Amino acid sequence: MSVLVTGGTGYIGSHTVIELLEAGEDIVIVDNFSNSKPEMIDKIKEISGKDFKFYEVDLLDKEKLENVFKENKIESVIHFAGLKAVGESVQKPIEYYHNNITGTLILLELMKKYNCKKIVFSSSATVYGTPKTVPIKEDFPLSTTNPYGSTKLMIEQILRDVYISDKEFSVILLRYFNPIGAHKSGKIGEDPNGIPNNLMPYINQVAIGKLECLNVFGNDYDTIDGTGVRDYIHVVDLAKGHLKALKKAREMTGVEAYNLGTGKGYSVLQIVDAFQKVNGVTVKYRITDRRPGDIATCFADPTKAKVELGWVAEKELDEMCEDAWRFTKNNI
Ligand code: UD1
Repeated sequence: MSVLVTGGTGYIGSHTVIELLEAGEDIVIVDNFSNSKPEMIDKIKEISGKDFKFYEVDLLDKEKLENVFKENKIESVIHFAGLKAVGESVQKPIEYYHNNITGTLILLELMKKYNCKKIVFSSSATVYGTPKTVPIKEDFPLSTTNPYGSTKLMIEQILRDVYISDKEFSVILLRYFNPIGAHKSGKIGEDPNGIPNNLMPYINQVAIGKLECLNVFGNDYDTIDGTGVRDYIHVVDLAKGHLKALKKAREMTGVEAYNLGTGKGYSVLQIVDAFQKVNGVTVKYRITDRRPGDIATCFADPTKAKVELGWVAEKELDEMCEDAWRFTKNNI
């Protein structure tokens, strides 16, 4: 019996795969390398010292994906695969809806056909839209502000409906806050194509000299220093959350959503400051206009995950900055 990991060579997927392998799980990865590289497979094997099956498959290719279900006994699925750039999703909504939604529908059709009824889905705090208050709890109202976020929310709804139609399903929706950091080995981490959209990869590229200066998007928010506040979580803590979610999926039927965050918020300037201090580097920055669509403050109430999954984020900001920089120095 195997766990199928879609998007298992991506940033969060690869870290999760390592945790799964180290916990003795038998896994099968499918990925189309749309935002990762084939060398990830060897790196994962090297770090974990374990082997696994890999298929280069796009979820939209039903025939090839079905072959994976035929050749393996898939017991459960952790579903990461999807396009994830907010700005790009506004430019290419059809591609985003088609890829993320249709890909998930094909996966679900096959799961039903092959009697696999446990799924852990990679959702996002983006489904809370512009929250009225913080910390954010799972029962807050849901809404989205861009096509990427809409695909996450729609998939959550699709999964709820699948459960309503078949009560043997167990569905865990993991709503990630802001994953940063990298594996201790320094071999895998976040390496986005092109100019990064997210804060941590941008800081790293400035520190290494690939980009000249960080644009801090606004310093007139109602926050500690005027810059945006987010709940940054170490990607390895996040990965461990998936193991706990898988365990939960095996024990229950139904649909549950969990916030995976630390419960603590840091501003952009606090992140820059921590990164500089802990790594002994300089990150040049300038204040620019706000980025459209950004909110002032976003952080989780992670109590539900603590109580029901037995999971808490353990790593502090300094370690996140240190690990991210080690990966950058080795790879970028
Ligand atoms: C973004 C997405 C979110 C997605 C998440 C995935 C938007 C509006 N939101 O979250 O939907 O789930 O990435 O990781 O894009 N910042 C700068 N300069 C930069 C980059 C970021 O000042 O060059 C600031 C932002 O204004 C924000 C903070 O850093 O206050 C974090 O930004 P980012 O890393 O892009 O994450 P989110 O916007 O929280």
